[in-house]
Amino acid sequence: MTTYHSEPHDFTDKRAGYERLAMQLQGLLAGEADPIANAANTVALIFDALPEVSWAGFYFLRGGLRGDPNGGELIVGPFQGKPACVRIAVGRGVCGTAAAKRETVIVPDVNAFPGHIACDAASQSEVVVPLIAAGRLVGVLDLDSARLGRFDEADARGLERLAELFLRASRIEELR
Ligand code: SME
Repeated sequence: MTTYHSEPHDFTDKRAGYERLAMQLQGLLAGEADPIANAANTVALIFDALPEVSWAGFYFLRGGLRGDPNGGELIVGPFQGKPACVRIAVGRGVCGTAAAKRETVIVPDVNAFPGHIACDAASQSEVVVPLIAAGRLVGVLDLDSARLGRFDEADARGLERLAELFLRASRIEELR
């Protein structure tokens, strides 16, 4: 990995901001394939770089039978922020919804999302990106903010790209 220097990150132009972040993440993960180490550095970078983010972390799908897309549950992985809920069933909360739909879910106001799981009372908005490797659901990347409407489509696309870089760099099969 290349040494990480925390700099002021400019997200005035979100697309350009995420492009710079993607370059940094590639440098950070270069030459390392351990999925836990890479997940930890990915969320550390995101949490350090992105403004107005109160929590950033991974939930990994564990314990499911092979080939059963609804088997297993999401279990918290490396994260930055306050201690979090450990287990989330697929289909429950924002994380479980993104996992079940295999689609990024943007929630501008968590109080208006039926079934939202409140880990941190300060959280007002959320975005969850599903992690799909070789057609299989691996887990989700979850970000929270204390500001309503913090995340938009540009964040979703940028975070999907970062999630993809994490998946490509890591030996995901070791997570099972
Ligand atoms: N709010 C999430 C739970 C995880 S925490 O935000 C870290 C949800 O509804 O799935």
